Amino acid sequence: MAWFSACSIPAVPLFLQVLGRFNRARAAQLTLPHYLCQTPLFMPVGTQGTIKGLTKNQLEEIGCQIILGNTYHLALRPTSELIDELGGLHKFMNWPRALLTDSGGFQMVSLLHLADITEKGVTFQSPVDGKPMLLTPEESIQIQNRIGADIIMALDDVVRTTITGPRIEEAMYRTLRWIDRCIAGIYVSEVWLNVICLGIYAIGGLAGGEDKDSFWRVVAQCTAALPEDKPRYVMGVGYPLDIVVCSALGADMYDCVYPTRTARFGTALVPEGVLKLKHQAMANDIRPIDPMCECMVCKNYTRAYIHCLVTKDAMGSQLLSYHNLYYMMKLSRDLHSSIVEGRFPEFVCKFLQTMFPKGD
Ligand code: GUN
Ligand code: ZN
Repeated sequence: MAWFSACSIPAVPLFLQVLGRFNRARAAQLTLPHYLCQTPLFMPVGTQGTIKGLTKNQLEEIGCQIILGNTYHLALRPTSELIDELGGLHKFMNWPRALLTDSGGFQMVSLLHLADITEKGVTFQSPVDGKPMLLTPEESIQIQNRIGADIIMALDDVVRTTITGPRIEEAMYRTLRWIDRCIAGIYVSEVWLNVICLGIYAIGGLAGGEDKDSFWRVVAQCTAALPEDKPRYVMGVGYPLDIVVCSALGADMYDCVYPTRTARFGTALVPEGVLKLKHQAMANDIRPIDPMCECMVCKNYTRAYIHCLVTKDAMGSQLLSYHNLYYMMKLSRDLHSSIVEGRFPEFVCKFLQTMFPKGD
């Protein structure tokens, strides 16, 4: 297995070393088979084995540590069997750092209205030939094992965050039963079982339309109850503000399509909030997206140039994706270093004052 290979990373599949704390916030080093990560960290979403418009060199250059892949999409095309045959996802996409795959259930429920959940698993209509297909917890693990990511996720029973009543409880207990089935589907020795399984705790089902107050309270409640020595991953989050707040509450890892999706709609992330490059005011603005940003895009291109490209040429969304992901990676690094260096409160105050200058 990958973690026994001769490399500078210790022969442990997953290990969290907390380097610094401020109240509940923590900065840590997370050892994974393919990379030694610094947390808090943000993972860009590479649904089909690519972060749209960015090369692997660019991703390394901006400091991306982990890329997220989706089991559902990869299993459909190019298929997990082919990825396995070609030497695994790292080799297939030529990505030397860490990879995480999500289990597939969430994507089906969020993308396919026809997905149906029963105790057996998630049934869905194949988008390839329309035939009904079933993804079980065991199968999700088998597929993810073939894909070969550093971190694989258990299949969960996903419900909309805004619903209430017995369906919520059913989903929670079903997810727990499915975790047992996922673990039973993993073929490892007793010694590794506890290290590998439940190596990371994910907080899911959030950012689905609930109000911020409830969202942050749930994260606070979860991080307070979770073990100190395992990473806490808030799935599908999120906006820069949410990442700062969740990190203050003791969360370590995040993923979201937002920075790259919003880039394709012509929006740049800046310390003040967002900058809409499609706006007519950008047409003759010769400043970079963010004059303080040190990314390749801000060093080389003007707002006017990107305004001209946006929606007309793929280069426009590529440049914006690059800047937006650079912003997220820099935010992760700033969170990490401010916690380690004992200046987390000052960092958060400055972040909030810049984003909300009027205090609202
Ligand atoms: N991505 C965003 N939210 C979720 C969730 O609740 N479960 C899974 N598996 N993936 C997610
Ligand atoms: Zn920039």
